[in-house]
Amino acid sequence: MAAEHTQSRSTGTASVIGPIDGITYDRIQFGSLSSTNTEAARWATRNPGRRAIISAREQTAGRGRLGRAWSSPPGGAWLTVVWPATDSGAVTLAAAEAACCVIDETIGDSLVGGLRAEIRWPNDLLLAGRKCGGLLGETVGTDAGRVLLLGIGINVNNHVAGPVRTPAVSLGEIAGCEVDLPRFVDRLSAALIGALLAWDRDGFAPEVRERVVQRLWGVGASVELHGAGRPVAGVLVGIDARGGLIVDVDGRRRTYVSGEVSCRGPAGPAREEGV
Ligand code: BTN
Repeated sequence: MAAEHTQSRSTGTASVIGPIDGITYDRIQFGSLSSTNTEAARWATRNPGRRAIISAREQTAGRGRLGRAWSSPPGGAWLTVVWPATDSGAVTLAAAEAACCVIDETIGDSLVGGLRAEIRWPNDLLLAGRKCGGLLGETVGTDAGRVLLLGIGINVNNHVAGPVRTPAVSLGEIAGCEVDLPRFVDRLSAALIGALLAWDRDGFAPEVRERVVQRLWGVGASVELHGAGRPVAGVLVGIDARGGLIVDVDGRRRTYVSGEVSCRGPAGPAREEGV
């Protein structure tokens, strides 16, 4: 992705991307940061009405869903898109689908063809059944209205620690070689902007939902939903028009919203940690 203009700042290196569809984006790259989502919230309140991609080489306090820690050493793609939107549910699925395409392209460039990245509702990115990344959608109020902070973390070349609650993997491990990280981050940023522009135009369009369902992990399989209270077991059916998960529980269709619910295989989580 081409940057038109760059300048150095003590807090990060800033450049301007675009215009894409008449809109420009601030791109701010940090070395070490606590969390790109935390920095994005700060940036968004100071720069109302502007869009940005904030990335870091490493995060010292990366955050995952449900208050979990997210391990983010150098070698991974850790970034947050600042975007004017209020919904952090279905838009996260649309962004996850765009990220899966970039993961597929990246792995497809390597010797290992034929693998397809999957989305484990609501926000996990899987490769070969192992977690390679995740998304964290948050919103923050600004003088220009609420904005979405769409955080995404992908294990690219970083070492993935284990064992953890979900077996994890990096793209480099799957590809069998080091991935070009700056190129990957550029492709990912462009894909996320594309998905968000499409979201602004059409919302959760039926064709986007269909693409999400095509990549949905566990369709037709027995799953467990973990959240408040006892786990619920059922058969995963699909996604509804608002991004909710449709599950057949004892012959009755139920829909779950992403808030506090996570979807697992029937064995359930072993340990509660980040990736
Ligand atoms: C999850 O699977 O629980 C979501 C993980 C999201 C991690 C990303 S890394 C970039 C952004 N900054 C954070 O602190 N978290 C998100």
